[in-house]
Amino acid sequence: MSFIVAIDGPAGAGKGTITKLVGDKLNLVNIDTGATFRCVALCMLRENIKIQEEDKIEDMLNKINIEMRPNDEIFLNGENVTKRIRENDVNDFVSPISTIPVVRNKLLNLQRNIAKGQNIIMEGRDIGTVVFPNADVKIYLDATPEERARRRILQNKEKGIDVTYEEVLENIKDRDKRDSTRKVAPLKRAEDAIYLDSTNLNIEQVVDKIIKIIEEKRK
Ligand code: DC
Repeated sequence: MSFIVAIDGPAGAGKGTITKLVGDKLNLVNIDTGATFRCVALCMLRENIKIQEEDKIEDMLNKINIEMRPNDEIFLNGENVTKRIRENDVNDFVSPISTIPVVRNKLLNLQRNIAKGQNIIMEGRDIGTVVFPNADVKIYLDATPEERARRRILQNKEKGIDVTYEEVLENIKDRDKRDSTRKVAPLKRAEDAIYLDSTNLNIEQVVDKIIKIIEEKRK
């Protein structure tokens, strides 16, 4: 029997960082579902497939092979694309790709298969609602748009990207609206998810809280 922890929440809430740290500490396999959408987006970019070309997308999905290997490395058709899927062209293309129903269906099966027989922590937008509605622990990790904008600015600074606070905040608010009102798989808190607001917490505090919640459940 596997033990499943689902972490959902909006962009910039810290899901990626927190999930990795909690997974490492508790020996849970960390599955980043966003990376699977990124692989599909990269494949479409490389094969020059447009969003409207459903037949081509289906053909491509029938052939695609995505693997999550140790050390959080992602392989697409045998090639290590861990870094490549974080580049700007993929960043820009992945959001519309993640709303295509046939893509979501294919990745739903893949995400469920990866988890089989393992103890996992999985982060995304619809893990507690759609992928694993029976997950053992569900967390909805949130922070105010202002705090998420502040964190994004810090990240951007490290990468040498210079954008104003106002621009980033606007972008985050737009994306929240799009993500939570879209017809396909909107971002939504599961009714039985524990709501965790990280606005006034640092990374270690959030990690500690989540570990306590998981340990309590595992008892
Ligand atoms: O978390 P991320 O930025 O790597 O996610 C990439 C894209 O995939 C993002 O636009 C949201 C989408 N996504 C999704 O719709 N459902 C998930 N379970 C994970 C990501």
